[in-house]
Amino acid sequence: MLAIIGGSGLSELPNVSITRRQVVRTPYGEPSCGLTFGEINGLEVVFLARHGYAHTLQPHEINYRANIWALAEQKVSRIIAVASVGGIRTDLTPGTLVVPDQLIDYTYGRSNTYFEGAMETIRHIDFTDPYSPDARACILLAAKRQNITVVDGGTYACTQGPRLETAAEIRRLEGDGADMVGMTGMPEAVLARELGVPYASLCLVGNYAAGKGNNQHRIDVSAASQVLSSNMEKLLSILGSICAD
Ligand code: HPA
Repeated sequence: MLAIIGGSGLSELPNVSITRRQVVRTPYGEPSCGLTFGEINGLEVVFLARHGYAHTLQPHEINYRANIWALAEQKVSRIIAVASVGGIRTDLTPGTLVVPDQLIDYTYGRSNTYFEGAMETIRHIDFTDPYSPDARACILLAAKRQNITVVDGGTYACTQGPRLETAAEIRRLEGDGADMVGMTGMPEAVLARELGVPYASLCLVGNYAAGKGNNQHRIDVSAASQVLSSNMEKLLSILGSICAD
């Protein structure tokens, strides 16, 4: 079974035929919403809306540990996490799809590990390649089959939010090597790694990051959500094609 986490603009999957919904609890509390089970092109999928079905959870309010635990418990083979980002690199223009291969974490105060408490021995997991090469390859292959252009690789900077960044912050992220910026990629990716579930992200650029492109002085948030919704169809056909494997 494949797990799909939906981000902004994707709080349900229109191309899934739903078989059941299930409210789950985890040792870390409740996930953002119940799990939706169904099929896309004959493949079983479980879907979770990261911000909740009503899109009410801010990035820093999401219970990432509960979300990833709930999916891992379903013995999923992979997690494909959909997320919207701001484009920093010049070719990452609004409407572009990108599959990052690296990340930098700028978040703070989020519960970012399962390895804690008196009973835990000290564990340092490898995170050199934060995204599963195999899960990334699945997304890229699916996009190719659908003839949809996707940028292969890039560094995702995860900021704390919920506010957008200043232009100077974006220049700093760029200097650090970041190509795109979002608010939810961490600790999601590391928690999946801790539980041994292959995880990759399919990002949709909704806007130029602060100070980039036409955003010299402000980011038009409603234009960004327009970009997300008008590009959702190609994103969904990639997800559908992953399932056709
Ligand atoms: N910054 C941070 N997160 C985002 C952005 C942005 O510009 N756009 C979409 N998610």
